[in-house]
Parts: sequence; structure tokens; C-alpha cells
Amino acid sequence: MNIHIETPRLIIRELLPEDATEMFEMDSDPEVHKYLGNKPLTDIEEVHKVIAFVRQQYTDNGIGRWAVTLKDTGEFIGWTGFKRFTETVNNHINHLDFGYRHARKFWGQGYAYEAAKASLDYGIDTLNFKDIYAMTDVDNLGSRRLLEKLGFEYKKTFAYDGPSAEFNGLPVTWYELMERK
Ligand SMILES: CC(C)(COP(=O)(O)OP(=O)(O)OC[C@H]1O[C@@H](n2cnc3c(N)ncnc32)[C@H](O)[C@@H]1OP(=O)(O)O)[C@@H](O)C(=O)NCCC(=O)NCCS
Repeated sequence: MNIHIETPRLIIRELLPEDATEMFEMDSDPEVHKYLGNKPLTDIEEVHKVIAFVRQQYTDNGIGRWAVTLKDTGEFIGWTGFKRFTETVNNHINHLDFGYRHARKFWGQGYAYEAAKASLDYGIDTLNFKDIYAMTDVDNLGSRRLLEKLGFEYKKTFAYDGPSAEFNGLPVTWYELMERK
């Protein structure tokens, strides 16, 4: 996946095996996982598997989440972007999900919005993506605010019925960003 998106402060690129150490720092933080089923990672091997899985999605689905890095230092600060959901969730299948996760030390500085906005625009304008969906825990107010700031519309709260066992039956909000006419 030859992706290179620049914003004033960030570079968005494909996720690489070299991101594992910084990604593990992010994903072993209980605060980061508070609204993600509360299961922070404990073994860096799990991160290696996630990175390999995402890279396989680039090949199989032509898309997957991208790494967000600081332009000045090259530091990995999180990931953002699209994932093709091949499992049914909320009666949707094969749809494009939009998501993001950033390491805690980088929160509250507008990075998540900057990365997500540039990625969304790239997806819509360059990759021709049309209808885009997002889900988040009902209590994840930061994530919900971010989605609304990006133009997503809240549709409903439903009992999660997707593939992730941690969320099964939990209340999740469903957002949509339909094709811009
Ligand atoms: C959600 C997350 C990506 C936000 O990252 P961030 O870099 O702090 O976000 P930004 O600084 O770009 O802020 C975007 C907007 O959300 C708001 N926001 C961020 N965190 C918030 C919080 N905890 N409560 C309320 N609003 C919040 C900001 O104020 C801003 O809105 P504004 O411009 O109206 O003030 C980050 O908290 C995170 O990675 N959380 C853990 C993973 C996660 O929950 N991912 C989403 C799963 S669906």
C-alpha cells in the first residue's frame, strides 16, 4: 500500500513491522483501551500479529488502517483510516469502517482530527470511497466528538453483534458519512 499523506504536522503512511515498539506502548496502556473492551495488550507478540494482519488486509482488501507519524521526528503516534469489514455488523457487510487510535501522550493536541480529516479526504477524493461507517462505545465521548467534527452523522445505539468477542452485546453507537453529493 503505497500511501503518503502529509498534513501540516503529520505524515500518514502504511503500517510497518518497525512500528511495533511504539504501537505496543500505545496498546499496553489501559487508558487507551478503556472503551475498546478494556483489554490492553501484555505481549508485544500480539502487536506483531496485528501489524501482519493489517498488512495482509492491504493485499486482500486493498485497504487497511494507516500509521500516523510526526513529521518533525518520524515518531509513530497511532493509526487512522479505513478498514473493509468482511463480517456482518449491524446488518452491514463488506462496508468501509473508519477508525483511529492514538497513544495517550499525544491526545488533546488536535492530532487525531488532523490525521482523520486528511485520511477521510484522501479516501473520498482519491480512492473514490462513498459510504463510510464508524462505531464507538456509547461512553467514548472523545471519539464521538471526533466523528461528529469529521461530519459523521449519529444513527443509533445498538447491541454490538460483530466479530469482536470483547464487545459482544455491549451498547455501541453507529455513525454514517454518506456520499457527498
Ligand atoms: C479518541 C482519540 C483518538 C482522540 O484523540 P485526540 O488527538 O485527543 O483528539 P483531538 O485532539 O483531535 O480532538 C478532536 C475533538 O474531540 C474532542 N475530544 C477529544 N477527547 C475528548 C474527550 N475525552 N472528551 C470530550 N471531547 C474530547 C476535542 O476537544 C476535539 O473537539 P473540539 O475541536 O470541538 O474541541 C483518542 O482519545 C484515543 O486514541 N483514544 C483511545 C482509542 C479510542 O478510543 N479510539 C476510538 C475507538 S472507536
